[in-house]
Amino acid sequence: MHNYFGYCFIDREAASFPSCAGLHVETISVDGRKSRSSKFLTPPLSTGGIIAVVIASAAIVILFTIIGTGFLWGAGYEPVDRKSLKKMLEIAEPLEGRQVYDLGSGYGRIVVEAGRHGAAVTGFEMDPLKVWWSRRAIQRKGLAGRATIVRENLLAADLSRADVVFVFLWPGIMEKLKAKVLQEMKPGSLVVSYYHMFKNWKADFQDDKLEVYAYRIPARTPA
Ligand SMILES: C[S@@+](CC[C@H](N)C(=O)[O-])C[C@H]1O[C@@H](n2cnc3c(N)ncnc32)[C@H](O)[C@@H]1O
Repeated sequence: MHNYFGYCFIDREAASFPSCAGLHVETISVDGRKSRSSKFLTPPLSTGGIIAVVIASAAIVILFTIIGTGFLWGAGYEPVDRKSLKKMLEIAEPLEGRQVYDLGSGYGRIVVEAGRHGAAVTGFEMDPLKVWWSRRAIQRKGLAGRATIVRENLLAADLSRADVVFVFLWPGIMEKLKAKVLQEMKPGSLVVSYYHMFKNWKADFQDDKLEVYAYRIPARTPA
């Protein structure tokens, strides 16, 4: 085999020479005559290569399913940090018997913890896989009478009965949610956010280290 000025001269089946990839190929017979020519071969994939491609594709699909789909509706998936969640629950106490919502409830970490603290808790989540998983978690933890997951867009949820709303969302959807909580939630009720703040609304509680921010819904001024 010779590789010369972009041409690859070989005397056997061209496809068996991965180093000819992208080159013009001249196939030469034993008596020296050019018997065939073709262009721009790509290297054949070995069995190992095919397996690697299949595994990589499956990993991308699984990763996208677990983490990625939420961004289609307003926020990608990431669980709230454990220390920050402890602080969020502490700020919202007492939770016993109160109506608590987690908007964008993911795999149910906040829902389960709020349920353990005695709250009547509802998680709103769009992703069917996360809905299924968190409903199973609720069953497993024995919280079925107290915790529920609704498959619904959080922007369509009725927040009028909520005492506490937990959120861990992205800035764009937080902006839409700000108007909604101010319009729908009862005066005196609480929004506790992890990581992102509401723009142009001073938090009533703020822990910059744990990135926890709490907002009390103000009394409505008569029109
Ligand atoms: C950052 S995760 C927070 C998960 C959970 N609250 C926690 O802290 O562990 C945001 C979640 O919101 C969900 N989500 C995003 N936009 C949504 C929407 N418009 N309606 C319902 N769920 C949404 C995503 O699927 C994702 O599971």
